[in-house]
Amino acid sequence: MNEETLNKVIDESKQGEVTILKGNGASNGKKLYIESYGCQMNFSDSEVVASILTETGYETTRDVNEANIVLINTCSIRENAETRVRNRLVEFKGKKAKDPEFVVGILGCMAERLKKSLLEEEKLVDIVAGPDAYRDLPNLIEEVGTGQKAVNVLLSRDETYADITPVRMDKGGVTAFVTITRGCDNMCSFCVVPFTRGRERSRDPQTIVKECRDLFDMGYREVTLLGQNVDSYRWNMTSKGEIKDVSKPTVNFAQLMEMVAKVNPDLRVRFSTSHPKDMTDDFLKVMAKYENVCEYIHLPVQSGNTEVLQRMNRGYSREWYLERIDAINRIVPDCAISTDIISGFCDETEEEHRDTLSLMDEIKYDFAYMFKYSERPKTLAERRFDDNVPEETKKKRLTQIIDKQMEHSLESHQRQIGKIKKVLVEGPSKRSEEYFCGRDGRNSMVVFPKGDFKKGDYIMVKIKECTSATLLGEVV
Ligand code: SAH
Ligand code: SF4
Ligand code: F3S
Repeated sequence: MNEETLNKVIDESKQGEVTILKGNGASNGKKLYIESYGCQMNFSDSEVVASILTETGYETTRDVNEANIVLINTCSIRENAETRVRNRLVEFKGKKAKDPEFVVGILGCMAERLKKSLLEEEKLVDIVAGPDAYRDLPNLIEEVGTGQKAVNVLLSRDETYADITPVRMDKGGVTAFVTITRGCDNMCSFCVVPFTRGRERSRDPQTIVKECRDLFDMGYREVTLLGQNVDSYRWNMTSKGEIKDVSKPTVNFAQLMEMVAKVNPDLRVRFSTSHPKDMTDDFLKVMAKYENVCEYIHLPVQSGNTEVLQRMNRGYSREWYLERIDAINRIVPDCAISTDIISGFCDETEEEHRDTLSLMDEIKYDFAYMFKYSERPKTLAERRFDDNVPEETKKKRLTQIIDKQMEHSLESHQRQIGKIKKVLVEGPSKRSEEYFCGRDGRNSMVVFPKGDFKKGDYIMVKIKECTSATLLGEVV
C-alpha cells in the first residue's frame, strides 16, 4: 500500500461520521454540515463546534445538499492534507455561485496557518476560525450575514473548552474521544502543530472525569483520552514542574489515568499520543494495574537513527526509545505497540534509513502509520535544513517501510490465533450483514458471526483466522 491509499483508508474510515443530533437551543431554521479532516483532535473539536452551534439554534445535518452552512475542519500536517481541502473548497465554490446565502467556513489547523489568505486572496471561504476561536463562531456567522468577512485566528494560552459538553457524532454511541490537553510545546522540527495549535495546556481533571462518567451513563463503553503528547498532561503545575496554586492538588498523566480508570471497570480507557521522551514507568504501572486501561500504546518513533532524531528535535535517542519499549514489555506484558514513521527527512542517508528498518525488525510493531516527509512552512526544519532527499528516494524508502510493516502486522495477528479475546461490540461489520465487529484491548479489529449481541456488549471471542488488518473469530 502506498501513502496515498493508506491515507485514504485512514481518512475515509473517519469521513461521513459527522452527524449531530438536534441541539438544545431553540431552532433558528438554519442547517449546519461539518466535515472533518486530520487527527482525532479535529474530530473531537468538531463535536465541540457542533455543541456550541446547536446551543445557538443551528440544526446539524448529514446531507451537505440541505446545509445553509458548511464548516470544514482542516489539517495542515502534510501538503497533501491541505491539497485535499483546497479541492473540496473549489467544489463548494460552484454551490456558492448559485446560492449567495450559502456560507462556507474553514476551521482548524489550515485556518490557523493561512489566516486571512483563503478569504481575501483566494476568496474561497466566508469564515476563518482557528482552533481556539470556536466560541466566537456564532458571532462570526452573524458577521457574514451582515456582509462582512469573518476571521478569528487568535490562539489562547488557556482555552480548553472544559465546560462544553461535546455533541457526540458517532451513531452507535459506544466509543468517544475526550480531549485532555490542547496545543504542543515540543517543537519537533518537521511539525506544523505548535504553530497551528499554539501552546500546550491541560484541561481541569474534574471536568475530564465528569465527562467520562456522563459518557458511561449514556451507554458509552470506551473513551480515548486525547492530546498531542498525553504524557505531558499536568494540572496545576508549570512546565518546569512547579506548583501553581499550593492550596490545590497537582495531577500528572499517571494520576489522571487512575482517576479515569476508576470511573467504572466496564468503561475501557485508551489514550493517544504517547511521547517516548515523557512516558513514565509510573504511568505504565497504572496501565498494568487496571484491567479496563487497554493494553495498547501508540508511541511514534519517527526514525530509528539517533542523528536523524536529533535533527528532528525529538528529544530522545534510538537507545532511549528501545529502553522505553523494554519498559512497556516489562511492566505491561502483551501490550500492543504502534508507531509513526517518516521517510526521507532532511539529509537522511541510506544508512540512516536502514536504521529505521532495523529498529522495526527489533520491535516488530503491531501497527504503524507511515509517511513521506513533507516540508511545512515556518517549521524549524524548513528554516534550518534542505528538503534534499529526492522524491523518488522518499517513495522507495517509504515502500520498504510499509512492506516491512505489512509483514509485522500479519505476524502480530498470526500470534493471536487460538487466543481468547475480550471484545467490545461496536456494530455490524463492513464485510457482511451476518458479521459484527469490535476491538480487543490491543486495538485489533475483530470480526465474528453476529449472534444475539448489541453494541456496547463485552463478549469473549476465540481467534481462528486473520489478515494483517483484522482478526476473525467465534464467540465462546
Ligand atoms: N503528537 C504526535 C504526532 C502528531 S502528527 C507525536 O508527537 O507523535 C502525526 C504524525 O504525522 C507524526 O507522528 C509524524 O509521523 C507525521 N508528520 C508530522 N509532520 C510531518 C511532516 N512534515 N511530514 C510527514 N509526516 C509528518
Ligand atoms: Fe508535532 Fe512533535 Fe508536538 Fe507531536 S510532539 S505534535 S510531532 S511538535
Ligand atoms: Fe492535522 Fe492539526 Fe491534527 S495539523 S494532525 S489536524 S493537530
